[in-house]
Amino acid sequence: MIEDDVLRFEHLLSTARSVRRNLDFDRPIDRDDLFACIDVAVQAPTGLIGEGWRFLVVTDPTRKAAIAELYSEILVELMQERGLPLKASHQALIARLHEIPCMIFVCAEGEPPPTTSGQVGFYGSILPAAWSLMLALRGRGIGTTWTSLLTARADAVAGILGIPDGVTQTVMLPAAYTLNAVLKPAQRASAETVTFWDAWGASQPSRKVPGDE
Ligand SMILES: Cc1cc2nc3c(=O)[nH]c(=O)nc-3n(C[C@H](O)[C@H](O)[C@H](O)COP(=O)(O)O)c2cc1C
Repeated sequence: MIEDDVLRFEHLLSTARSVRRNLDFDRPIDRDDLFACIDVAVQAPTGLIGEGWRFLVVTDPTRKAAIAELYSEILVELMQERGLPLKASHQALIARLHEIPCMIFVCAEGEPPPTTSGQVGFYGSILPAAWSLMLALRGRGIGTTWTSLLTARADAVAGILGIPDGVTQTVMLPAAYTLNAVLKPAQRASAETVTFWDAWGASQPSRKVPGDE
């Protein structure tokens, strides 16, 4: 019998969708909520860069407008390059991104090394904190989207926000309390489909069925 707490926790993990619509653009994010969520984020594991995480919370309308304009430019250019239409949810976000109550930039002190293992260590020491932050916000009814587009113009972002050299930008989480957003698990491949057992490509034992030991 799985405990209720476990089920609730797994539900939260499984329903941390990208939320670009049904957001309350008029309600500022409570500062205590934000700090509580960042306190959760800094419990994430760290490797190469230790606790070099820095969270830049942007609520200033002028800076948000400049970031929103940049974000929109990058997204539109990217979709044009790829010959893809802009999805309605992305359109909805860019139409109001300048009004989002806050943008949270997750940054890391230092720069990623050139080797794969160095990069795994570097980004592996900051992105778990970003994901914990997104989950903690979700737990408090705050919707976000994991956005990485702005890293394409990190210099411009640095100029707008005064981020010094030697600091690496990762994701930006646009955050707002959700409005009647029903967040559900997404359609994803099952664990069996994406799991090998003992050797690459080898099939795995099936799940226990009722009556198994
Ligand atoms: C590495 C990465 C980069 C992403 N960058 C963006 C982004 O810049 N803008 C955006 O709107 N969504 C971005 N997303 C969100 C994805 O579009 C989203 O996770 C995906 O469509 C699945 O939807 P879900 O998050 O609701 O499950 C990114 C997700 C990942 C993992």
